[in-house]
Amino acid sequence: MIEKIAGWILGGLCAIMLASVAVAVARAGETAGIPPEMVAEYIHAIVQADQSIYSTHVVEQLQNRKITEAAEDWKGKGALPLPAQMLQMAGQEIQGLGLGLRIRLASLGPIYTKNRPADQFEQAGLEAVAKDPQKPYTGIIIERDRRYFKAIFADRAVAMACVACHNNHPLSAKRDYKLYDVIGGIIISFPVR
Ligand code: HEC
Repeated sequence: MIEKIAGWILGGLCAIMLASVAVAVARAGETAGIPPEMVAEYIHAIVQADQSIYSTHVVEQLQNRKITEAAEDWKGKGALPLPAQMLQMAGQEIQGLGLGLRIRLASLGPIYTKNRPADQFEQAGLEAVAKDPQKPYTGIIIERDRRYFKAIFADRAVAMACVACHNNHPLSAKRDYKLYDVIGGIIISFPVR
């Protein structure tokens, strides 16, 4: 009898242990997945670091030493591409990889109409980050039956050069930017299940 009871207790304990292992495995599975908000933050951190290092350590250095300068018509002049052009070229390269990852720059008052918000989500997102630049505007969009996580991060005029160039460009749709204003947004999207 005692053996029987001991057997039940042991069996019960084993069942509890197995169940807790199953719960732990399930939890581990949950924590191993990275939330899309965080993935977007990671990508944005890389993009921003690249932009700022390119601007300070390549463009500024070479301009200060009068070796060359950044110019929109960099190909024709044999000069350096503008940081915005670098980002857009990187975005095109990334799109070519077929991962579904997309990165581009947009604005409510863009120099080029191709950089206008492409849809209602982007319009709302650019308005939101203009009001609150600290927080990205995020959401899920559906395109051709595929779900994408989309995040819009504020792109601010951190240097007077941003302000001067954007206010004076002949095609600019907005000419009253001030230092630290939000010029537009960096839009990052990637497929999610
Ligand atoms: C010397 C001129 C110049 C400077 C300096 C400059 N930009 Fe631009 N920016 C451009 C041009 C030209 C484009 C359009 C590029 C394209 O789409 O081919 C552009 C595009 C953009 C866009 C996309 C929307 C649009 O206007 O077409 C954003 C956002 C932007 N720049 C932000 C910035 C920020 C922030 C800075 C400073 C850190 C900056 N830019 C500095 C010339 C400049």
